[in-house]
Amino acid sequence: MAILKIGNKIQIEDAVVLAPMEDVTEKPFRLICKEYGADVVYSEFISSEALYRKVEKSIKKIDFDEAERPIGIQIFGANDEPMVESAKLVESFSPDFIDINFGCWVRNVVRNNAGAAMLKTPKRMQELTRLVVESVKLPVTVKTRLGWDRKSIAIVDVAKMLEDAGIAAIAIHCRTREEAHKSQADWSWIAKVKQNVNIPVILNGDVKTPQDVKRAFEETGCDGVMIGRAAIGNPFIFREAKEYLRTGKIPYPPTISERIEVCLKHLRLNIATKGEHYGIIEFRKFYSGYLKGLPDSSKVRSKLVVSESYNEIEDLLNQYKQELEQKMSEQCKEVEIS
Ligand SMILES: Cc1cc2nc3c(=O)[nH]c(=O)nc-3n(C[C@H](O)[C@H](O)[C@H](O)COP(=O)(O)O)c2cc1C
Repeated sequence: MAILKIGNKIQIEDAVVLAPMEDVTEKPFRLICKEYGADVVYSEFISSEALYRKVEKSIKKIDFDEAERPIGIQIFGANDEPMVESAKLVESFSPDFIDINFGCWVRNVVRNNAGAAMLKTPKRMQELTRLVVESVKLPVTVKTRLGWDRKSIAIVDVAKMLEDAGIAAIAIHCRTREEAHKSQADWSWIAKVKQNVNIPVILNGDVKTPQDVKRAFEETGCDGVMIGRAAIGNPFIFREAKEYLRTGKIPYPPTISERIEVCLKHLRLNIATKGEHYGIIEFRKFYSGYLKGLPDSSKVRSKLVVSESYNEIEDLLNQYKQELEQKMSEQCKEVEIS
């Protein structure tokens, strides 16, 4: 059994963790994932430069609920003072740990030498990390990638250097910056990192099913498994993974009713946080996850993504649910008769 320890307070068996995702792992979704068994959650990344300039919208992203603990708030940046000051600001909100993003591949971030760009200058990455670690009392963790590109994979040395800088754990997205989200994540590096460091190592990349979670622990000896895209509109994956790890039995998927109830609950939380207009518009990315694999879901989805009223969305989803349930009961009757 794996035990994920971060600092003195976090100690979790077979930890299944929600990955940080911009515009996705906001408070409403984190709360839902937590309810469904995510052991640790992260905020989306927050710009240290924006926090340093006290941009209200960015400061709001630090906000979390007690029910979300343990939670890590993720910051990114490349400059000493904004990183140190933003870490101190984050600390004043008392999350469980502060995470530094050294993995983001997008052009706007790397052209400012932040995110995955730091993989090109590991010494600078180490120096900046040490500064942050020394400026706060909270545990500091890092999320990064294997390297800048396939020719320059340096994660084993980088992890060691970050451990020396004092980080409490490292999450590794098993791709290079060049690969972005393309090609298969290469988990084989995790075991190599584990042999070289004593800090906990969290595996990330292409974990899509409860079976993947188990295989990740078994094949690599990682201390925790982090799930990103497969959780979008599918918080049930955490419950399923935890159950599978505990019992070895493939868990039942959520019922149609449960999917729709949770989707609506998530939407209501979004509206409570952002107001009806933005709460609804910014929720549209979640429908395909909640309805994935259900018959004829594209028809209802195309109506949902243009709707601007909660009541209308609720009616559309409930009507869809009734249609599916009716179809299923007719199919059951046919089977009984034959
Ligand atoms: C929409 C989206 C937003 C993301 N935003 C962040 C982020 O803010 N910080 C971060 O460290 N990684 C971010 N990532 C990367 C994920 O945390 C994760 O490393 C990546 O999706 C691979 O894991 P997966 O295969 O389980 O999705 C994002 C990924 C997606 C799809």
